Parts: sequence; C-alpha cells; structure tokens
Amino acid sequence: MPRTAPWWRSAVIYQVYIRSFADANGDGVGDIAGLRSRLPYLRSLGVDAIWINPWYRSPMADHGYDVADYRAIDPLFGTLAEAEQLIEEAHRHGIRVIPDIVPNHTSDQHPWFRAALAAGPGSPERDRYVFRPGRGPSGAEPPNDWVSCFGGPAWTRLPDGQWYLHLFAPQQPDLNWQHADVRQEFESILRFWFARGVDGFRIDVAHGLVKHPELPDLPPRREPAVLGPLAPREPVDEQPRQHVDHPHWDRDEVHDIYRAWRKVADEFPGDRSFVAEAWADTPERLAAYVRGDGLHTAFNFDFLMSGWDAKDLRAVIDDSLAMLGAVGAPATWVLSNHDVMRHPSRYGRERVKRWTANEPYRPDGAADLELGTRRARAAALLMLALPGGAYIYQGEELGLPEVEDLPEDMLQDPVWERSGHTDRGRDGCRVPIPWSGKAAPYGFSPAAASAAPWLPQPADWGGLSVEAQTGDGTSMLELYRSALRLRREHPALGDGSLTWLETPEAVLAFGRDPGFVCVVNFSAGMYRLPAHTSVLLASGPVENGLLAPDHAAWLAV
Ligand code: NOJ
Repeated sequence: MPRTAPWWRSAVIYQVYIRSFADANGDGVGDIAGLRSRLPYLRSLGVDAIWINPWYRSPMADHGYDVADYRAIDPLFGTLAEAEQLIEEAHRHGIRVIPDIVPNHTSDQHPWFRAALAAGPGSPERDRYVFRPGRGPSGAEPPNDWVSCFGGPAWTRLPDGQWYLHLFAPQQPDLNWQHADVRQEFESILRFWFARGVDGFRIDVAHGLVKHPELPDLPPRREPAVLGPLAPREPVDEQPRQHVDHPHWDRDEVHDIYRAWRKVADEFPGDRSFVAEAWADTPERLAAYVRGDGLHTAFNFDFLMSGWDAKDLRAVIDDSLAMLGAVGAPATWVLSNHDVMRHPSRYGRERVKRWTANEPYRPDGAADLELGTRRARAAALLMLALPGGAYIYQGEELGLPEVEDLPEDMLQDPVWERSGHTDRGRDGCRVPIPWSGKAAPYGFSPAAASAAPWLPQPADWGGLSVEAQTGDGTSMLELYRSALRLRREHPALGDGSLTWLETPEAVLAFGRDPGFVCVVNFSAGMYRLPAHTSVLLASGPVENGLLAPDHAAWLAV
C-alpha cells in the first residue's frame, strides 16, 4: 500500500502563545489547564497541530525564551504531569503537539550559567557559553561590535572583567555550540520530550547557533537583506536580496547540528517533525535548512513580510515554491506570530511596499482596520489555498488587530527597555484573547479571577470574542472554520503544486488539481471571476460573478 504523505507537509498549525490563550487558575496568565479546556475549540476550528511557545521553567525575562530548566514546566503554566495530560488529550482530539525549543541561549538562571559565573574566567564551565576578555587597554570595550536584537551591545561585562555574549537580552546568554556538552544536552532534551509524545519542535533562532570561531566584527554593511523583525535597524536601500557572510547568522556549519537532530527525531515512531525559525537572506539559504537529511520545514517569513501587493506576493510564492520544491520540502505560509504586528493592522496601512526586517516594523500613522480586516480575510483564503502547510497565530482567526495603545507603564517586552523607550516592542500582538462576554477579561480568566489579565484587553473586544463570532456567517472565525473544513475535505488543497491563471497584474489567480481555483483581487476595481461551477467560499459577497477589491474567492471549476 502506498504510504500517504506525512502530516507536516500540509498541516495547519495553530500557534498557542500560552501566556495569552486561556487562564484557568485566575492569576491573569494563561496556563496548561486553560489550554486543555479549550482543546474542543481547537478541534472545532479544524487545525491539525498546535505549536506552544516556551512553557519551560523560566524567570520570564523574555516571556519564556529564557529557559532555566528545559525538562520542567514553569509553575506559572502548570506541571510536567499536566503537560503530559495535554499531549495525550490533544492526541485524542486528533491534534498534534509541537513545543518550542530554545537552543541559542539559556536563561542566566540556568544551572550551567550560574556555574559558569561561579567558576570564573578560564574555567571549563565558562566554555559552554561565549565568554571573552574585552578590548582596549583595560578591557573596558566589548570584544566586538555585535549588537543585541533587543537593542544595545550584544555583550555584558561581569565584575571579574570578562564579557559574555547575548544576541538577545543580557538574561539570555548565548551557548557555545562548538562544545560537545551543549550538543549532547540538547539531543537529550529532545529525547526527553519525544518520549513524552510530542510530535515535533519549533526551533527558536535556528539560524543563530553557530558563531564564527574568531568572533570578528560585523561586515561593513552591517545587515544583509533580512535578519528578522527584531534585528537592529539601520536604513537599507531597496537592494537585491543576496546572502552576506555574517559572523553569527545563518552560518553553514549550523546544518550539522540539525542533521544530528533529524537522526534523534527518526529514532522515535511516527512522523516527528521540526520547523525552523530561520531568517535567511534568500529563499535558497532558507531551503538549505530543509534539504536532504536536515530539518523538515522552516517558516517562510517572506510571505509575512510582503505588503498587500499582488506582484510581491506572487514573487514570494514563486520563489518559495521553487526553492523549497527543489529540495523536496513543503512550503509553509505565515501571516502573523507573537513577534510581529498583527496583520489586519499591517494591511490596514496604505503602505503596500514589501517591508524588510531592517525597517521599523511599527509603522507610522493609524491603521484603517476596516480595510485591514477586509484584506486579512482575503489573505487567509490565499494562504490556506497555497501548496504546503500554514500557521495561524492565536486570535488571527478572530481578526484581532494589534493593540497599539497599551499604556507605557504596562509594556513588558524587553525591547521597550533595551531600546531606550523608542520601540514599544511586541506586547501589542500578545494581548490575551477574548473568548466570551462583553467586558474584560472576556472569559480569558474565570469570573472569580484573583488578577486582571497580564496585559489589558481593549474595551471594544466583546464583538471579537469566540462567543460573539460563533454562528455569525460573516465573522472572521466562521470564515476560518469554513476554510479549514474545505481544506480538509478538498483533494486539491494542502500539499502539491499550483498553476497560475492569466490575470491583470493586480489580481492573483491559481488553479490546483482537481477542480479548484483561488482568486484574489488586489486592484481597486471589480474583477470578473473565471468560469466556475460554484463559489466554494469567498471573503465577502460575490455578486454577478464579480469579485470586489481586496477580496478572495475559492471556486470549483
Ligand atoms: C524568537 C522568538 O520568536 C522571540 O519571541 C524571542 O524573543 C527570540 N527568538 C529570542 O529567543
């Protein structure tokens, strides 16, 4: 019997930012018990898997991306036993579970880093991290000019005179991946969780683990085309995308690590899979993560970084499918995540040019949310019709906008402090999601909660709650539900290929076999749909065969 394609080639994976998903114990922070209670919702939404942002023991300097114990659950979220129950229950609902793994850095409270501090300069304990003497006569200058993705230098000096590297916050010291202990430890952590039934991992900063052995200064033009939305922002011209040899991003040697990880995944029964958070300069460089015996999939951030522009999106789709297809890997499509402005707020701005990682990802001016939401509806149909897998960031299915007016004294993202209060950071896309009711906490926390949600929810979110949208055929939630149901049922959708249909430049239309066409109208005028037998789904009313501006339709042909 022919083996069916592995699930991860076409999966729709729902991102659970656990702090903000559902709070069962009423402390204002989401938890595993809350997530367990909402599994029926996720099943009825129709997703194949959940990716859970870090849930490990952590001092929460970067909301869990600073891990102190990779084999323990933080008490804020629950216990290891609850995590095991969650995995089992999710599986019973037909939902796979993918935790986040954070290998580039640990917390400064991790036993290894504490031991390194205690053991002092030159000790073997310090070898597991990147400690160096400073430059200048008294060593008072950092060892090189690297900058932290959260602002400021990537080095912090200790009282004993040595400096340590942190590409993110000072509470997130970078590990030394040349060290055998580091490699062994992470393989052991993977086995720990695979043995508990997880179906894969999302790999944090997958492109950052290996540093140039001599730690040279940055190349003269500091930033190549793309480094991630958190990268330091220097102005860049509209330059052709090309790979720039960089001392700490996307070095070739990083792939050895993932070949070893792939072997670990293959030790376990079933299809376990990795998804890399890798910001690569070009689609070719991204494809290198998922070729041959490497990782299974990688996030395709080019799609997320495109403006609402037919030409740009088509180029991204073509390049991604070509480069990933050439190495036999499926594409993934992402519109939003916990690091970037939610897409109704991005698309609600007139700027349609592709933004790069080096430009502020907090644009000026107010968003037109009606426009942004219309486009977000169309974008969902575009994304879910493309060949490969897709990611949905919690709240995206509710059409949540970015919360751009959080009071400054409530901002928690380290970016706010590290940028000297010039960048408000990522809290605006992390506000706890509304489940029911007309006032905060909108069912996020129980009625008798002891604390308010960790970030304040807007007063006008009642209409966006799951309860308010359920059963309303015009709602974003019902659009996602219908799209996901059709995607499961329709043989043309998921893994495979597409064929572009001839259209004006501001319209995208592609066919997928058998018998499916997706049309997206980016133009300012009505567009006559190609011949079809029925409209399977549309982001708004289709009258007389005409598709309105900023709308999309799925057709049976
Ligand atoms: C990428 C994660 O998505 C982001 O939230 C985090 O701050 C950095 N990596 C550092 O771990």
